Amino acid sequence: MTALSVLQLFDPIAADMRAVDTLIRERLYSDVVLIRQMAEYIIHSGGKRLRPALVLFAANALGYRGGKKHHELAAVVEFIHTSTLLHDDVVDESELRRGNKTANALFGNAASVLVGDFLYSRAFQMMVNVDSMRVMQVLAEATNVIAEGEVLQLLNCHNADVTVAGYLQVIRCKTAKLFEAAARLGAILTEAPPAIEQALADFGIHLGTAFQIVDDVLDYSADETETGKHLGDDLAEGKPTLPLIHAMQHGTSGLAARVRLAIETGGRDDFPAVLEAIQATDALNAARSHARGEADLAIGALQGLPSSVFKEALLKLTDFAVSRGF
Ligand code: IPE
Ligand code: IPE
Ligand code: MG
Ligand code: MG
Repeated sequence: MTALSVLQLFDPIAADMRAVDTLIRERLYSDVVLIRQMAEYIIHSGGKRLRPALVLFAANALGYRGGKKHHELAAVVEFIHTSTLLHDDVVDESELRRGNKTANALFGNAASVLVGDFLYSRAFQMMVNVDSMRVMQVLAEATNVIAEGEVLQLLNCHNADVTVAGYLQVIRCKTAKLFEAAARLGAILTEAPPAIEQALADFGIHLGTAFQIVDDVLDYSADETETGKHLGDDLAEGKPTLPLIHAMQHGTSGLAARVRLAIETGGRDDFPAVLEAIQATDALNAARSHARGEADLAIGALQGLPSSVFKEALLKLTDFAVSRGF
């Protein structure tokens, strides 16, 4: 799926997305110039805006007519996402994001962590304005679980014995949880019955899991000009992602030992050897198939939702999550 066709997917919510962009611009305001500079640098550098789109699609699919709270929550979710990226790029020592230098590469680690905190807390100020205890519960829980996921991942770094289940636990926490919250918020805003809210939440968690599995595939195979991120960042950190777990499980003992050593050592020197093991075991296709399974679960979760252009777009998003190259 090309960048253009993703934009087309957003057609039914184009006006809402413009409103969310305006809101994001307004809510970024701070008297502190460095905050404005950095926050604008990262937030206007062209992210895909998938999570705010999820809030809007879910709310519209359930016939939301309650004013502009869906715009506020879409912006909240993008702020939370952006703050996790600011922190993540420090932790991962990444240098390229959205085709530009990362904020940490340009402004330093200290400023990145602190502006990440600014965006996090601004998101909480905004969600208080929505004046719903349920909304606050969902977002407080999501941010807490994301932090747990990132810490869990830190503990797993350089550990070649992490299982598929251990890997899935990390990505459900660090990534899928925010997708879950975004879709669930759309349902909460429309005061949907519990079964429908759960269906949207399930959709989000499976979509987010598929999305992160493919993110981990792209770390070994993407065109950097498309993802705007450097290849090999995961290996450099010694992250035991699904392609590597697959290569160790299905490769010869020699190949498995090379991958194991690369995880334990980290760095970029072993990247070519690891790529060979990945190719020999068809590990990227195996990981994409796993993502396809998650996408199918996401599709299944929406069965009870009434038909609409918004539901159609949600279903198509699952294809994007699996087949994307950026
Ligand atoms: C990047 O998310 C972080 C992951 C969870 C993989 P996106 O790929 O949605 O990032 P942007 O916002 O489009 O840059
Ligand atoms: C991102 O995971 C998850 C969060 C930001 C919470 P990654 O580290 O895989 O994301 P990228 O590849 O840097 O975008
Ligand atoms: Mg990262
Ligand atoms: Mg990644």
